[in-house]
Amino acid sequence: MFSASSIVTAVALLGAGVVSTSPSWTTNPFNPAAIPLAVRSPYLSAWLPQGGGNALNTAWPTFWTGMIVGWAGYVSVDGNVFTFLGAPSVTATQAVQKSFQFTSTQSTFVMTAGPVDLTVNFLSPVEPADLVKQSFPFSYLSLSAASNDGSSHAVQVYTDISAEWVTGNVSLVANWTTTAGDNNLVTHQVQLATQEPFTELNDQIQHGSAFFSTGSTQGVTYQTGEDVQVRAQFVQSSVLLNSQDTQFRAVSDKWPVFAFASDLGSVSTSSTPVVFALGHVRDPAIQYITSDGPLQERSLYFWTQFSTIGDAIASFLGDYTNALARANAIDNQISTDARNVSLDYAELASLSLRQAFAGSEVTVSKNSDGSFNASDVLMFTKEISSSGSVSTVDMVYTIWPLYLYVNATLGKYALLPMLNYQASGQYPNAWSVHDLGSHYPEATGHNDGKDIAMPVEECGNMLIMVLSYTQRTGDNSLIVTYYDLLDKWAQFLVDNALHPSNQLSSDAFAGVLANQTNLAIKGIIGIRAMSEIANMTGNSTGSQQYASVATSYASQFQKLATSTDGKHLTLSYGNDSSWGLSYNLYADRMLGTNVFPASIYELQTSWYGNADTSSQFGLPLDTRNNFSLSQWEIWTAATVNDTTVRDSLVGGVLKLAADGKSSKPFGDWYDTLDGSVNSFAARPVVVGLTGLVSQRKRV
Ligand SMILES: *[C@@H]1O[C@H](CO)[C@@H](O)[C@H](O)[C@H]1NC(C)=O
Ligand SMILES: *[C@@H]1O[C@H](CO)[C@@H](O)[C@H](O)[C@H]1NC(C)=O
Ligand SMILES: *[C@@H]1O[C@H](CO)[C@@H](O)[C@H](O)[C@H]1NC(C)=O
Ligand SMILES: *[C@@H]1O[C@H](CO)[C@@H](O)[C@H](O)[C@H]1NC(C)=O
Ligand SMILES: *[C@@H]1O[C@H](CO)[C@@H](O)[C@H](O)[C@H]1NC(C)=O
Ligand SMILES: *[C@@H]1O[C@H](CO)[C@@H](O)[C@H](O)[C@H]1NC(C)=O
Ligand SMILES: *[C@@H]1O[C@H](CO)[C@@H](O)[C@H](O)[C@H]1NC(C)=O
Ligand SMILES: *[C@@H]1O[C@H](CO)[C@@H](O)[C@H](O)[C@H]1NC(C)=O
Ligand SMILES: *[C@@H]1O[C@H](CO)[C@@H](O)[C@H](O)[C@H]1NC(C)=O
Ligand SMILES: *[C@@H]1O[C@H](CO)[C@@H](O)[C@H](O)[C@H]1NC(C)=O
Ligand SMILES: *[C@@H]1O[C@H](CO)[C@@H](O)[C@H](O)[C@H]1NC(C)=O
Repeated sequence: MFSASSIVTAVALLGAGVVSTSPSWTTNPFNPAAIPLAVRSPYLSAWLPQGGGNALNTAWPTFWTGMIVGWAGYVSVDGNVFTFLGAPSVTATQAVQKSFQFTSTQSTFVMTAGPVDLTVNFLSPVEPADLVKQSFPFSYLSLSAASNDGSSHAVQVYTDISAEWVTGNVSLVANWTTTAGDNNLVTHQVQLATQEPFTELNDQIQHGSAFFSTGSTQGVTYQTGEDVQVRAQFVQSSVLLNSQDTQFRAVSDKWPVFAFASDLGSVSTSSTPVVFALGHVRDPAIQYITSDGPLQERSLYFWTQFSTIGDAIASFLGDYTNALARANAIDNQISTDARNVSLDYAELASLSLRQAFAGSEVTVSKNSDGSFNASDVLMFTKEISSSGSVSTVDMVYTIWPLYLYVNATLGKYALLPMLNYQASGQYPNAWSVHDLGSHYPEATGHNDGKDIAMPVEECGNMLIMVLSYTQRTGDNSLIVTYYDLLDKWAQFLVDNALHPSNQLSSDAFAGVLANQTNLAIKGIIGIRAMSEIANMTGNSTGSQQYASVATSYASQFQKLATSTDGKHLTLSYGNDSSWGLSYNLYADRMLGTNVFPASIYELQTSWYGNADTSSQFGLPLDTRNNFSLSQWEIWTAATVNDTTVRDSLVGGVLKLAADGKSSKPFGDWYDTLDGSVNSFAARPVVVGLTGLVSQRKRV
């Protein structure tokens, strides 16, 4: 990864010592720095900033960068109107937030609007079993009302979005249309009038359209127009005019909004939910370098099943009940499996899942006749909030344990873009590429070889990922097809892993350093991984050669890397006062390769356990700085042989996630002394979900 530079509930569920913020509503399990609302892709990423706690109706939702994405909501109860979502200037009575709860896929608020409680559920599906569903960048908003005073009440709900969802510059002109009736839907579509494919501005894409849709059932009305007019219409009348504003203009010019109202009728016990779909779609989605001809234009995979966006949205909305059931199942599965590690870990896993998936997009190419080649599946990942590059190898590596857990086939789709590109021979270096392009969504490669060099890091990562995929699935296709490439990287490690030259590791912001012990660990495990790969292809000579190098290096490494007093591994050879988190040992566990003896794990466990540190948020990454990265705390926790040390590392990260200081989507880079966060936010890698891997049996 590259960088330029009631509370009662909450406290009961948090680990000991966690300082939680004290909003006036109950939280379960806690108030994170920002609450995921619609988080499904690099460009559908809406959050409610928290810090000390914002109610759903005291702040605007924001894109992960902090730019507002307008999303407002009112509820009318017997003609009295309450605001429940956003901070619109057309005021109504403020609904009172009663509770907030999150699971892996859902954020749920209960907003009391006088005699009615409105349940506001934001569901961002995670669909590892289904490429069509996973690749459809839409979220659900569902609203249901229930009387809280025993009487029946007339209830109408309202929600709108602004055009801020389609650009990083609100001075640009948008245009829009509303279609009513097709597919039994009412759909607002909005986009920039000037489209710029593959171009980001302030990390928002300047291409494609936002869609906001609901079923065209009785009692649904719509309207587009200036924010204050459309909102005032509902506040005054609890119904919209089914009218369209056709004066296309800049996003911030008399702020056009795209609204729905829905009449829930007379509500006593909980009403049937009214469901909205909100998404952002562009086509083509990705540019990808292939060995011949121009850049390949790739589409989101769901297009293999639908010929119009209306059909796709109709399928998505029609599937809501099943989608909710699948979401509840995955929520329960993550929670149950992660609780087997610890409760703290389960809370972090639940907070991380949506953003781990929303960094990536599953794509497909077209045949020469224009039809889709559904067998050509590639998944690309954006390095959100640092370099913004495409499919950074060490970023995919950090998410990797999650793929092994949910569906290793997704891991294959994440690796293929790098493997195909490098097998084509266009990348000139002897080591693995760092990423596939400096700016998402342009996977244009680095044929000049001038990408950020992390030679030992990325060679080790690729070998470790390819082997673990093969181990999990029994599918030998990667190791057979790309054997020569893997062999080249392994050879590079033979030459470079024991004494890594002055170079970057994944923790690039810490700078270059020679003889990094943690890099040597990764390189040696990578060599050993190649031995396993050779074995699996029936190449006994190759397997034995690599195994013997790995064994010899592991033994030499222990002498080089252990401090003179024998109490810990150093950060770099020979520097006795240095140390760091040896998180790369985790790969040895994940692969079951046992390159390093138990004594190394025990030595480090005891050192971490005794570390003299005033840090309250886990341990520093290494002695160069007081900062750390949340995912490496978790990976390190997965390597220790003592549950107290493990829980203390995990607890530090939970404290960071729940301490109320930040209002940015959960990032990974932070100060272990005071829990302040660095520039990274909404990172797909945020928690590095190692602990789940061991919970799933090998297939
Ligand atoms: C994993 O994903 C592949 C590709 O979409 C799919 O065929 C398979 O059924 C999935 N497996 C599981 C266990 O979800
Ligand atoms: C935003 O768009 C306006 C209007 O086209 C333009 O003047 C301005 O330079 C743009 N700002 C950025 C940061 O692109
Ligand atoms: C809006 O702009 C897009 C992109 O330029 C264009 O294709 C589309 O026809 C326009 N739509 C309307 C309703 O003007
Ligand atoms: C819980 O995790 C342990 C390993 O830490 C494993 O042996 C056990 O089978 C797991 N239990 C369940 C119910 O998954
Ligand atoms: C479709 O994609 C697969 C996988 O990349 C490839 O092997 C196959 O040749 C492609 N089919 C066509 C018709 O190009
Ligand atoms: C790396 O460590 C080896 C062995 O301790 C030493 O000989 C070499 O000089 C070190 N390299 C650098 C660049 O410090
Ligand atoms: C692969 O490893 C297994 C287990 O060590 C061994 O029995 C087998 O002979 C090896 N196969 C080859 C081709 O090296
Ligand atoms: C066996 O593995 C070694 C090392 O990877 C390689 O050089 C050799 O070409 C392989 N042999 C075969 C028959 O693939
Ligand atoms: C040893 O490591 C410490 C902490 O990382 C660093 O401040 C110091 O400069 C290093 N010493 C040498 C000789 O590299
Ligand atoms: C860590 O923070 C303490 C307290 O601010 C400071 O004295 C120390 O120099 C810092 N350590 C490093 C390695 O930056
Ligand atoms: C971890 O290893 C150390 C050293 O061998 C041993 O004393 C300790 O009992 C182990 N802890 C656990 C929980 O196994």
